Amino acid sequence: MAADPRPATPPGPAAGTRRAAPSQWSATQVRGLKAAIWLLALLPFARLLYLGATGQFGPNPLEFVTRSTGTWALVLLCVTLAVTPLRRLTGWTGLLRLRRLLGLFAFFYAAQHFLLWLAVDRGFDLGSVGADVLKRPFITVGFAAFVLMLLLAATSPHAMVRRLGGRRWQALHRSIYAIAVLVILHYWWHKAGKNDFGEVSIYAAVVAVLLGWRLLWWWRGRKNRQGATTASAR
Ligand code: HEM
Repeated sequence: MAADPRPATPPGPAAGTRRAAPSQWSATQVRGLKAAIWLLALLPFARLLYLGATGQFGPNPLEFVTRSTGTWALVLLCVTLAVTPLRRLTGWTGLLRLRRLLGLFAFFYAAQHFLLWLAVDRGFDLGSVGADVLKRPFITVGFAAFVLMLLLAATSPHAMVRRLGGRRWQALHRSIYAIAVLVILHYWWHKAGKNDFGEVSIYAAVVAVLLGWRLLWWWRGRKNRQGATTASAR
């Protein structure tokens, strides 16, 4: 979902101010980290299988599983979004090699969340799916987020980067920020009916920090580029 077509050490907008000698990880280290991600990211799924097999979903199994998969999709989305800031703060460029896997796991949980609604809630009735998407704003934004996630997952293989071209691919994959905003709206709207904003506020704050950081970085880069253009024009 979030592979990076750029070289491992991209010439960032603030290249002059970046740390020197970014730490590179060996192939073995990256493999180890990927194995750890597989293990950790599959834990919530294994837990669901266990709870299901032992009849511990509580009085409303559909609600339980929908909430669990939705929450893990959001958590992994936030972790995926945190990769770039973390890479820039630490200089660990190897982090970029983990981003696609994290994004795909976010999609894995979102797909379960969506399929549950489609199969159990809507009984695969496309008319009822369309009506729900049009009638309930919280479903409308969740649906929009899911469609975008599907697009990113489908274009995540390296072959797609080559087919689309780096720039187009990157522009498309920037929609991960829009996805995060849509999911927060989806969650917020869902909780608004119950006037229960405790947990969703925490996720909203995390997404706001990640987005704010990204905007700040973009703005700094733009200023640096403008400065460089002015200097070279003199
Ligand atoms: C077509 C797309 C989607 C549909 C139909 C959908 C449907 C739902 C429904 C019905 C609920 C309420 C569950 C309940 O309390 O009974 C819910 C909650 C939630 N959804 Fe979605 N959703 C969609 C997309 C997404 C996506 C893409 C994400 C995250 C990446 C997401 C994250 C969440 C979260 C975090 C909650 C709140 C969980 C909680 O109450 O603890 N949803 N969604």
